[in-house]
Amino acid sequence: MEAAPVYFSFSISLSKMVFLQTLFLLILSLDFHGVAASCSNGKCKLLDECSTNKDCAAGLYCFSCSFGFSGSRCIRSSVSNPFKLLNNSLPFNSYAYLTTHNSYAIDNEPSHTPFPRITFSNQEDSVTEQLNGARALMLDAYDFDGDVWFCHSFGGICFEITAFSAAIDTMREIETFLSMNPTEIVTLILEDYVQAPNGLTKVFNESGLLNYWFPVSEMPRNGEDWPLISDMVAKNHRLIVFTSMASKQETEGIAYQWNYMVENQYGNGGMYSGLCSNRVESAPLNDKNKSLVFINYFPTLPNNYEACEQNSAELMNMLQTCYHKAGNRWANFLAVDFYKRSNGGGAFQATDMVNGKHLCGCDDIHTCLPNSTSRACTAMRSNGRKFFIYEK
Ligand SMILES: *[C@@H]1O[C@H](CO)[C@@H](O)[C@H](O)[C@H]1NC(C)=O
Ligand SMILES: *[C@@H]1O[C@H](CO)[C@@H](O)[C@H](O)[C@H]1NC(C)=O
Ligand SMILES: *[C@@H]1O[C@H](CO)[C@@H](O)[C@H](O)[C@H]1NC(C)=O
Ligand SMILES: *[C@@H]1O[C@H](CO)[C@@H](O)[C@H](O)[C@H]1NC(C)=O
Repeated sequence: MEAAPVYFSFSISLSKMVFLQTLFLLILSLDFHGVAASCSNGKCKLLDECSTNKDCAAGLYCFSCSFGFSGSRCIRSSVSNPFKLLNNSLPFNSYAYLTTHNSYAIDNEPSHTPFPRITFSNQEDSVTEQLNGARALMLDAYDFDGDVWFCHSFGGICFEITAFSAAIDTMREIETFLSMNPTEIVTLILEDYVQAPNGLTKVFNESGLLNYWFPVSEMPRNGEDWPLISDMVAKNHRLIVFTSMASKQETEGIAYQWNYMVENQYGNGGMYSGLCSNRVESAPLNDKNKSLVFINYFPTLPNNYEACEQNSAELMNMLQTCYHKAGNRWANFLAVDFYKRSNGGGAFQATDMVNGKHLCGCDDIHTCLPNSTSRACTAMRSNGRKFFIYEK
């Protein structure tokens, strides 16, 4: 620019100057445009700026989390499948499963009663969408309208204004998933208020889910390993159901949750950094006679605004804390609200981290050597796709 006036100062007219200035500004603005849209059409990687989901690469979507970054950026929307990424020849309790808390309490779910629904929600996707990554669902089951429904309650009773869906509808979605994905396993954790005799069994039967039933008689009671995933798949024992009602194990053959797993405190009481203690119904977290470890991390009242922060570093830290409290055992179930909200990797990355710990002792499943028994870790294998915040 310094030299330009020497060459042009006498020959350039005012109009040409204006033209050049405009051109310069145009180039400048094109350039800025180029930066903002440095990626689009599925080319944006983790934490790149985006304006729609379509900008982001596979496994990512466009989201804003003011706790983590400015504007909208691509964050993870899917979890890595350990059975496919590594192998499925280990016991069921050697893997981590992303779990949605109150999976049925879905934002914008239309009311299925004559009344508008007036209650809070914990998730945003349909159960079918949740099963894209989640492998365990927490469901609150009630007697309602002569049937079994999933519902929030006041004082243990389901009301028209707090009812979300008839259990049969959700069960049919789960059945469709299991029939279309013959190597996948789904766990249901029921907060069970159903008093109708065989009320739940009837719904499991009608939905076709009894065909996938994992029998209580094969569940380990004294800290042994669960069957191998590959054997569960071969026998089609691909649905594991736990109830919070002890009597149902006898009467309906539905496993009483606290015989098989330890679980930390849920709600606000489970979110104090550095603390991880069992909820009252559960044996102490370090009771190794219970082969499964279930970790909750969500507030008492669902908060979709703060979920992106809670599902990120906070969740990772709590998993580490609970690992120690559970007698050096990593979680099998990671239960969160608004499971897709995060500031980058979220509950998906946390699940990949825990699977890495379980399967090869590494910090992420992508660092496990294929078929390795050495517990040696490779550099991150991400196939050119950025999965992690620190991967630039
Ligand atoms: C399931 O339903 C079928 C037909 O509706 C019935 O014959 C069968 O006894 C039911 N099984 C259970 C365990 O309820
Ligand atoms: C675990 O099970 C064994 C064998 O049944 C029993 O001896 C032991 O007391 C149990 N431990 C706990 C903490 O319940
Ligand atoms: C891992 O093991 C499986 C089955 O044993 C085999 O088919 C596959 O080729 C192995 N992969 C590698 C990378 O060694
Ligand atoms: C599956 O992966 C685990 C963990 O890396 C390893 O110990 C085991 O040998 C693998 N099994 C097969 C059949 O590849």
